[in-house]
Amino acid sequence: MLTVRAPATSANLGSGFDVFGVALGAPADVIRVERAPETSITITGAGSDYIPTDPEQNTVGAVADALEAPATIRIDKGVRPSSGLGSSAASAAGGAVALNALYDRGLSRGGLVPLAAPGGGPVSGGGPPDNVAPSLLGGFTIATDDGVTQVDASVPLVACLPETSVSTRDARGVVPKTAPLEDVVDTVGHAATLAVGMTRNDPELVGRGLADKIVTPERSALIDGYDAVREAALEAGATGVTVSGAGPGVLAVCRESDRRAIAGAMMDAFDAAGIESRAYQTAVGEGARLYRDG
Ligand code: HSE
Repeated sequence: MLTVRAPATSANLGSGFDVFGVALGAPADVIRVERAPETSITITGAGSDYIPTDPEQNTVGAVADALEAPATIRIDKGVRPSSGLGSSAASAAGGAVALNALYDRGLSRGGLVPLAAPGGGPVSGGGPPDNVAPSLLGGFTIATDDGVTQVDASVPLVACLPETSVSTRDARGVVPKTAPLEDVVDTVGHAATLAVGMTRNDPELVGRGLADKIVTPERSALIDGYDAVREAALEAGATGVTVSGAGPGVLAVCRESDRRAIAGAMMDAFDAAGIESRAYQTAVGEGARLYRDG
């Protein structure tokens, strides 16, 4: 048996819509695999009641199929589905690492990205690999049609998850089809600032670089309490706040000394809006980790 711990991720980071992503230190999915004549999947943990176990409808089942690696697969979900923290990507990335090792397929982590990306990634008409790439590779990733660029980074974060959900269809539906050039220029500047900040482990630059005038205003309007939570995090010392992935999770960048206070302030603000939430005090972290002894 092989075991993989695959981290949650936060995609977009405001200015890097469908391109940027980070691996989070917590939470994570744990995937266990054993060789078997055909694939079967059992799922426990956060939101497991809502995830299909039929291999033909499950992202890890699709990975097993693509790798021709039938297995008994057990997924323990630490990453709640529809939270904005790359839940299905964590399972797919973890499954890809586990099955690649179980059957000695010899693919690199980068080679596993298109395999684990939704629908095979953009090249195959699927979704962006902006969650799968950091869960596989760790750190901060920039996923474009040309491939994935990765840097290790260590920047403190708070990911605050309200007990509400935003449908993926709604979240994609509000993304503008066009944008004024001045907003594109502004967003490119912030994206570049963020990328430099990641290479320097500089929470000030990363926080400033989250700013985005194109997608985030539309997405944040779908999250009850977002404006108050953002304001509370900034008052508590966050260097920047944005929507995590497609939401409803909210991501704050900060200095380590402010992290606990920011987590409390964000949860209090959701609470004041009548919404329960939980906050992960975490940081940009490592990619999926393989344990050979299970
Ligand atoms: N970039 C994606 C989105 C991330 O925001 O829709 C979620 O898959």
